[in-house]
Amino acid sequence: MPEHAVRIVEVGPRDGLQNIKEMVPTRTKIELIERLASTGLQTIETTSFVAPKWVPQLADAKDVMQSIRPLVHAKRDISFPVLVPNVKGFEAALEGGAKEVSIFLSASEGFSRKNIACSMAESLQRAQMIAQEARKHNIRIRGYLSCVVECPYDGRTPPVAVLGMAKQMLDIGCYEISLGDTTGAATPGDVRRLLDILLSEIPAARLAGHFHDTFGQAVANVVEAYQMGIRVFDSSVAGLGGCPYSPGAKGNVATEDMVYLFENMGIATGVDLNKLSVIGDWVSRQLGISNSSRAGAALISR
Ligand code: HMG
Ligand code: MG
Repeated sequence: MPEHAVRIVEVGPRDGLQNIKEMVPTRTKIELIERLASTGLQTIETTSFVAPKWVPQLADAKDVMQSIRPLVHAKRDISFPVLVPNVKGFEAALEGGAKEVSIFLSASEGFSRKNIACSMAESLQRAQMIAQEARKHNIRIRGYLSCVVECPYDGRTPPVAVLGMAKQMLDIGCYEISLGDTTGAATPGDVRRLLDILLSEIPAARLAGHFHDTFGQAVANVVEAYQMGIRVFDSSVAGLGGCPYSPGAKGNVATEDMVYLFENMGIATGVDLNKLSVIGDWVSRQLGISNSSRAGAALISR
């Protein structure tokens, strides 16, 4: 990847859908993934192998993976990671044909207990167990670290707690740590203070940004992180998203907004913005919600 280019991790089919109460038809999820795979995106997170009681919306993970097998086979340049919380989820993901999994831990105790029913220390042990299995099967692991600025249960997160967890996740074998502003409360000042500390011990190439847009700060946070050397960002088509265990959190930064931003700054994303905007409009209609991407909605109405 050229030094200035960015890689976008599209999390719409997973983060984007997981918090929607009404069940989204499996065929809509599959069509969404298929359409996204035609835009130039290199990474599309497809679903989660979590406990269905905890996230009912993604209980069809096995069917989604089964249906996209031909696509995964045909598009070898695209990575289709899935979320796994434990070895049970890892085994199901493997059976489903996943070549990459994402584990998800928290930099705060409160969210760890609410989201994955264990302490931060226990979550690292679980992560070790998943990593051990992943090594046996040559599966890549990406790590999410939630609540890097604020926790919905514990308040502000000290940056040193983020640093400690991120280092341990890298030691366990994650190739990259995606820093989650789960509540979407962070501002560029928070991002700078956090990255100042993280980058003193972790190379920028091992970090990614995952900004929710609750307070409308996500694009500004992306710019700040980019200026500090981060080149990988997670986003959702149409700005879909939110976590059932982070009450009130809004969607991820919209992929269309990020592509508009970077391409107009002369920074390559490799993504076709027009195609993506059509998908954002389509999926918003399918879900019966308004399009949260400002750039996407603007382009569609022109
Ligand atoms: P638990 O209740 O302690 O689990 O939950 P358990 O081991 O006691 O098992 C309870 C039941 O779940 C059993 O079934 C298990 O078989 C089943 P039962 O006997 O009752 O019928 N089970 C599973 N089923 C399918 N797949 C599995 C699995 N594991 C257990 N993998 C657990 C612990 C971790 C499973 C649960 O807390 C969980 O699934 N949590 C996931 C919550 C979640 O998905 N949150 C959203 C994703 S994270 C996020 O959005 C943040 C992120 O975007 C970054 C950011 O924004 O910050 C990544
Ligand atoms: Mg998220």
